[in-house]
Amino acid sequence: MGLIPEEFISDLLHRADIVEIIREYVPLKKQGQNYVGLCPFHSEKTPSFVVSPHKQIYHCFGCGKGGNAFSFMMEKNGGNFVDAVHAVAKRYGVNVPQTEKSPEKAKQDKLRDRYFKINELAARFYRNALHGSSGQDALAYIKKRDLNTETQENFMLGYAPAGWNNLSKFLLDKGVSQHDLILLGLSIISQRGTLVDRFRNRLMFPIADDRGRIIGFGGRVLDDSQPKYLNSPETPLFYKGKHLYGLNLAKASIRKWDQLIIMEGYMDVIMAHQHGITNCIGSLGTALTANQARLMMRYTYNTSICFDSDAAGQKAALRGLDILEQCGCRLSVITIPQGKDPDEYIRKQGKDAFEELIVKAKPFLEYKLLRLMEKYNPDTVEGKIQVIEKLLPDMQKITSPLARQAFVQVIAEKLVFPETAIYAELRKFSGVNRNNKQDREVKRKCTSIHALEKAQRALLKLVLEYPEVISKVEAWGGKELFNHTLLKEIYQNNYLMRQAGHNIKANDLVTLLDNPDSQQLLTEILIEEDSPGDVKRIFNDCLINLRLDYINNKIIEKSSLMSKYEESGDVTKSLEIMSQIQQLVKEKQSLATTLRKGGILNEN
Ligand code: CTP
Ligand code: MN
Repeated sequence: MGLIPEEFISDLLHRADIVEIIREYVPLKKQGQNYVGLCPFHSEKTPSFVVSPHKQIYHCFGCGKGGNAFSFMMEKNGGNFVDAVHAVAKRYGVNVPQTEKSPEKAKQDKLRDRYFKINELAARFYRNALHGSSGQDALAYIKKRDLNTETQENFMLGYAPAGWNNLSKFLLDKGVSQHDLILLGLSIISQRGTLVDRFRNRLMFPIADDRGRIIGFGGRVLDDSQPKYLNSPETPLFYKGKHLYGLNLAKASIRKWDQLIIMEGYMDVIMAHQHGITNCIGSLGTALTANQARLMMRYTYNTSICFDSDAAGQKAALRGLDILEQCGCRLSVITIPQGKDPDEYIRKQGKDAFEELIVKAKPFLEYKLLRLMEKYNPDTVEGKIQVIEKLLPDMQKITSPLARQAFVQVIAEKLVFPETAIYAELRKFSGVNRNNKQDREVKRKCTSIHALEKAQRALLKLVLEYPEVISKVEAWGGKELFNHTLLKEIYQNNYLMRQAGHNIKANDLVTLLDNPDSQQLLTEILIEEDSPGDVKRIFNDCLINLRLDYINNKIIEKSSLMSKYEESGDVTKSLEIMSQIQQLVKEKQSLATTLRKGGILNEN
């Protein structure tokens, strides 16, 4: 399949009517310029789902989801972008054209297809072996572990027979080359120089990508011998730390529940699915990577970790959580009582018991607190203080005062320690950890951040609705005026497209942003009521305020640079920078005056 031409996508988007499309799924009522209805993506009793026929976008003020016709189809049907384009095209009775792929890309795709086919053949071979005469022990082992036939089929379980080269021979006979067998990690060259199977006498777990294509294998021994598991090496299809076991089977349910559960092992995931807990995926025993976190975040931000309750499992949980937290996930930890792994717990206690554990999942910080209380003795004052000290950096990072207060309260309760004393420690810690100038700066930023963000949103909205103002915004700093990452990204995407001569509309812009967060923010901004008042006035006020903030930040930046040069005795440099600062201060003063006079700028 080739690429779909950009132009077709854009034409289709303009030909389609989002109200018509959404109406097939959600009853909509006209309200003013827009349509409203009950959000199909979260459950609600009063409508907060808004569709704008004008802008051809939708946005839900309840759950924050938003986008254009394609996003809606993707969200609703769980497919990818190409599927969504096909669905909309079908709805309007048009054929989707394909452009020719570049010869390079075509070659690569063909190669990958060939590799997938070989893996598929191998999986089928393993599956047949499991049900053949050599597979009796493996089948008995599967039964011993309580995996039913449906599960065996779902997870494509198989058996690698005990001989040296059963699979290799089978695939060579099918015309697969020795080179490919080695490249895909299915065969290895033995010390005697012969081609032998990598996996022998093992229960086989095919590992699929999120589209269900087999990228590699894991194999378990049937007894207690070592190594317990053997996995495919890195191959052109299989990279360590890039995949999640079971995601192809879990993704629909992850979307549905807006939550996923990460487990460690093959057996854990499989047992959870067998019991109908289908939003579980496996990290395959290694520490989670940022790649895996990003893959998860395509489906949900709500992640729970459920690792083994042994020490190694707990340590791995903490490591994984740090990565997820850095990537912006909402995190919780599911703890399994005493020495059990999820597989064993679910098998013995059943679905309901496990669901109770899910409900009892602890938010990340609370979990950290409990772990620390096991490490240090919370019955002594020294122990309490050690726990608090370890948590100070986390407390400091919480930006919402309410959330911070709530966490301090939890600590105080669990440690039986006065809240005021914890706050005192926190103040001391903050004092030690920032120099005063920075501290003031951070405070200034925190107090005015709300106003500044509002100004950025308002300015962006105006830029999107009145493209003719872009040149002025650019003259005043363009993307530099936006310190909000997502707003900056939206602004810059719009600017670059316009710059390239494309007269893009709001719904085109949604397609261009591949980050769902920025898509949702964009639809939120576009669908919001316009702020009351004179547009020109709002525009100028936003521009001046953001420019002022930009100048303030520049001054601070330059000042610290200047003191560095002063310290190192570089007089020429420090004078040069001083004059730049003076320039900035001058501009700042004149802007402040303009603002005081009512904020109207001369047209230019
Ligand atoms: N693992 C691995 N290689 C090993 C040991 C473990 O790749 N030598 C990975 C496997 O993906 C395994 C996971 O780490 O599923 C968790 O390991 P462990 O808890 O030891 O195994 P279980 O999944 O509990 O397997 P079982 O219940 O069959 O013993
Ligand atoms: Mn286990």
